[in-house]
Amino acid sequence: MEGHRRAHAVALCLLWLWAGGLCQENAASVYIVTLKQAPTAHYYDLLRSSKSSTGGGESGPMNTLNKPRNASRPDGSYGKNLIRLHDSLLRRVLKGQNYLKLYSYRYILNGFAVLVTAQQAEKLARRQEVANVAADFSVRTATTHTPEFLGLPKGAWVKEGGADVAGEGVVIGFIDTGIDPTHPSFSDEAPLNVFPVPLHFSGVCEVTRDFPSGSCNRKLIGARHFAASAITRGIFNATKDYASPFDGDGHGTHTASIAAGNHGVPVIVAGHHFGNASGMAPRAHIAVYKALYKSFGGFAADVVAAIDQAAQDGVDIISLSITPNRRPPGIATFFNPIDMALLSAVKTGIFVVQAAGNTGPSPRSMSSFSPWIFTVGAAAHDRVYSNCVVLGNNHTISGLGLAPGTDGDSMYPLVSPIHALRDDASVDTTSSMYVGECQDPSPLDKDSISGNILICSYSVRFVLGLSTIRRALETAKNLSARGIIFYMDPFVMGFQLNPTPMKIPGLMIPSPEDSKIFLQYYNSSIVRDEASRSVVKLGGVARIFGGLRANYSNLAPKVLYYSARGPDPEDNSFHDSDIMKPNLIAPGNLIWGAWSSLGADSMEFQGESFALISGTSMAAPHVAGLAALIKQKFPGFSPSAVASALSTTASVYDKQGGPIMAQRAYTNPDASQSPATPFDMGSGFVNATAALDPGLIFDSSFDDYLSFLCAINGSGPVVLNYTGRGCGGATVDAGDLNLPSITVSLLNQSRTVSRRVTNVAGDETYAVTWSSPFGVSVSVSPSRFFISAGRSRVLTFVLNATMNSSSASFGRIGLYGTGGHVASIPLSVISKVNFDKEVK
Ligand SMILES: *[C@@H]1O[C@H](CO)[C@@H](O)[C@H](O)[C@H]1NC(C)=O
Ligand SMILES: *[C@@H]1O[C@H](CO)[C@@H](O)[C@H](O)[C@H]1NC(C)=O
Ligand SMILES: *[C@@H]1O[C@H](CO)[C@@H](O)[C@H](O)[C@H]1NC(C)=O
Ligand SMILES: *[C@@H]1O[C@H](CO)[C@@H](O)[C@H](O)[C@H]1NC(C)=O
Ligand SMILES: *[C@@H]1O[C@H](CO)[C@@H](O)[C@H](O)[C@H]1NC(C)=O
Ligand SMILES: *[C@@H]1O[C@H](CO)[C@@H](O)[C@H](O)[C@H]1NC(C)=O
Ligand SMILES: *[C@@H]1O[C@H](CO)[C@@H](O)[C@H](O)[C@H]1NC(C)=O
Ligand SMILES: *[C@@H]1O[C@H](CO)[C@@H](O)[C@H](O)[C@H]1NC(C)=O
Ligand SMILES: *[C@@H]1O[C@H](CO)[C@@H](O)[C@H](O)[C@H]1NC(C)=O
Ligand SMILES: *[C@@H]1O[C@H](CO)[C@@H](O)[C@H](O)[C@H]1NC(C)=O
Ligand SMILES: *[C@@H]1O[C@H](CO)[C@@H](O)[C@H](O)[C@H]1NC(C)=O
Ligand SMILES: *[C@@H]1O[C@H](CO)[C@@H](O)[C@H](O)[C@H]1NC(C)=O
Repeated sequence: MEGHRRAHAVALCLLWLWAGGLCQENAASVYIVTLKQAPTAHYYDLLRSSKSSTGGGESGPMNTLNKPRNASRPDGSYGKNLIRLHDSLLRRVLKGQNYLKLYSYRYILNGFAVLVTAQQAEKLARRQEVANVAADFSVRTATTHTPEFLGLPKGAWVKEGGADVAGEGVVIGFIDTGIDPTHPSFSDEAPLNVFPVPLHFSGVCEVTRDFPSGSCNRKLIGARHFAASAITRGIFNATKDYASPFDGDGHGTHTASIAAGNHGVPVIVAGHHFGNASGMAPRAHIAVYKALYKSFGGFAADVVAAIDQAAQDGVDIISLSITPNRRPPGIATFFNPIDMALLSAVKTGIFVVQAAGNTGPSPRSMSSFSPWIFTVGAAAHDRVYSNCVVLGNNHTISGLGLAPGTDGDSMYPLVSPIHALRDDASVDTTSSMYVGECQDPSPLDKDSISGNILICSYSVRFVLGLSTIRRALETAKNLSARGIIFYMDPFVMGFQLNPTPMKIPGLMIPSPEDSKIFLQYYNSSIVRDEASRSVVKLGGVARIFGGLRANYSNLAPKVLYYSARGPDPEDNSFHDSDIMKPNLIAPGNLIWGAWSSLGADSMEFQGESFALISGTSMAAPHVAGLAALIKQKFPGFSPSAVASALSTTASVYDKQGGPIMAQRAYTNPDASQSPATPFDMGSGFVNATAALDPGLIFDSSFDDYLSFLCAINGSGPVVLNYTGRGCGGATVDAGDLNLPSITVSLLNQSRTVSRRVTNVAGDETYAVTWSSPFGVSVSVSPSRFFISAGRSRVLTFVLNATMNSSSASFGRIGLYGTGGHVASIPLSVISKVNFDKEVK
């Protein structure tokens, strides 16, 4: 680590020298500077709103929903002016000094990223026109079957007119590791000949040697990359990272295909066919904004540039499968430059989805914070590829592996490389440790292994990428082994293995306990010479049952142990902020998605065109794709209306009708599970069919988010600086934001909250039902109401504490319409009957 940091400092120095300055260690770093003057996207809003001041929140028809986004976004002269302004500000403030401007942000943020010293940053911060100066920070990257599991072919897609048109006209922007444009999931050879680029999109595709002209088409309609901050730090490796939108990692290609990959693309991996893949919105358009890289992840300055460009290009949805490496500092987490840029994007009508992070399962492990961002956790779905090995003593051990089984009923001898060394093999002490990992055929005796099952140790070196399954498979092939079995080295604790494709019969034993049993059987079968203790015969035999066929009987959905949990983490000004996080869970575990031909992120899938991988990174684009279906059906929905549709219709039951479970430990996760709470799964598991017909919507506007920010103690100056608006007016406590959830982190005896619902369906009468959290009594008024199409209505909820409780308890409110619509929201409360006696 230290070595790493030194390397950065040296690289910065080099650049500094090159820029003509004197080199001092740690002299300069990247800062994101925002200015008070409005960015392009809001400049014209301000002109408009200064003419007509907005009235109170009367319940007019659809008054809370956005108008369709305008195709022509003003930039032109105003945007160019901002660039000149940035340059002249820097020239004036840092007269005669060295600095390097990396970006001018001008569409949704007015500001720039700049390489300066701490003193220079301070100078900038003191300027009247400067709103905020924040240090750059690092970020990281956090399906063949999932369309069926989500009921798309018979549900949501039917409502959209089938897979051939699902998502058409909607553009999803991906802030990720780029894309492999040659992948069939992104070709535009559509079955129907109507697949136009939406008129509201104005993005372009970079052309480089790695990303030649013609890479884009009517499916992949925009592609750029942003790396200035990384390059400035001297850690950008042009070989590995590709100075182009090309995906040298695999992650970005995977996430784009989950949301919007073409329908019916055959998944063929290691020569086996695993069915056909499809994105959630197979006809939506893809715009790629690469800001993450194989060798180091990414930086906020580059991510903000990507967001700024995506918004200016006119994407409808932004999908981020990335999270900060640690909680950004500042008065409140919400004010970090990425979340501020996203707030501004939401103001222009863009729906923003972000992965919750893979930092679970402890409480407050959430890596996505703000109420204007839709945060998605990862759930297991019902497909498993499981195989097993039957030992000669008839003991069966289950395993993982996208591999065939051994032929027929025959048992095959098991051979460890330790017992198959060539007589003349010179294995020195360092390499002998690794012989058991099957990485090198040269010291092994082919006759001992040919036709038998090779057994290999899966050690920490595999986790680190020093040894690979691929090389072990090559060894097995070289020695004509019949099959291969990997057992867990006892030092690899709690490391989750993913099924790996294998051409020959094979399997991995993921459980350390099972691995021990397997080894004991192997060892106890060895026949040794009484006198010399030398091995006479190995004796162990086994048969492998293949794992190529999917089994759909997994109990699902279920919250995965790694999925980050709520409540929203503490801020300086909060105990726990009263905002539900995550918002939703979606499939994220073992997801098939397109893989870049040069994707280096997963050793096991290198060179394959699809990969089976897991994470909240995979869950977020599922929701981005489903949001595209909602935008297609309801083009006028605001970002919060889309969020509401997804939230109020989510399911809290698993396939068998029981409660959705949540894994709560990293090791042996299934033994630790218990029913999921809203802090594990938000509103629940996404229901695509129901989300397309939500009935009622809980809508929030930009002004509501602003009032929420203003309610944070001490936030006034920051809000003023960021938005140009003072906090003199209304403030809204987090608990009172019009979200499709009610979260009260400390209920002091009694609290009244209200929610405004808007009817996006026909006239309907709703009955309200609720289950109260433990220690809380709830009343709702009205408990029954009529609401005509397009109208809004306020509901009032009174929560009374009846019992002290130091941990959160949970309830649910359901609105049941006579027309069949159901809107359900989670209720989370920590109650105090007598708060003041409790506090010291
Ligand atoms: C959309 O753009 C057109 C010009 O192309 C303009 O006349 C119209 O007022 C704009 N609408 C909105 C809502 O900004
Ligand atoms: C860049 O990556 C290539 C390919 O992995 C590697 O060979 C090279 O050493 C790297 N260069 C630097 C400066 O790290
Ligand atoms: C998969 O796609 C291929 C052609 O792309 C088609 O022939 C086949 O029927 C599809 N299979 C399924 C199960 O949809
Ligand atoms: C294993 O089971 C088979 C049939 O189920 C039986 O014929 C065989 O004797 C058993 N072997 C051992 C070692 O128990
Ligand atoms: C097996 O490996 C040896 C040495 O590593 C090599 O000489 C030989 O060509 C390989 N054989 C096959 C069939 O790959
Ligand atoms: C292998 O078995 C022998 C007895 O057959 C025993 O002494 C030895 O400890 C065993 N080794 C392992 C690693 O289980
Ligand atoms: C699928 O898995 C379930 C539970 O793990 C098991 O009971 C069932 O036999 C499996 N079905 C097939 C066809 O392997
Ligand atoms: C999803 O919603 C549809 C339509 O409301 C409903 O029929 C279905 O049962 C829901 N599925 C789940 C798993 O709740
Ligand atoms: C707000 O913060 C200030 C300074 O940190 C503190 O003195 C004050 O008590 C806080 N007010 C509330 C209502 O928490
Ligand atoms: C807001 O801007 C003013 C003037 O530039 C500055 O003095 C102040 O420190 C800023 N406040 C915050 C919280 O950034
Ligand atoms: C709790 O409520 C009581 C009145 O019911 C009030 O006096 C007290 O200040 C409140 N405590 C806090 C910490 O808000
Ligand atoms: C809640 O408490 C208030 C006063 O503290 C009381 O008027 C109201 O009836 C209570 N409501 C319920 C549902 O207990």
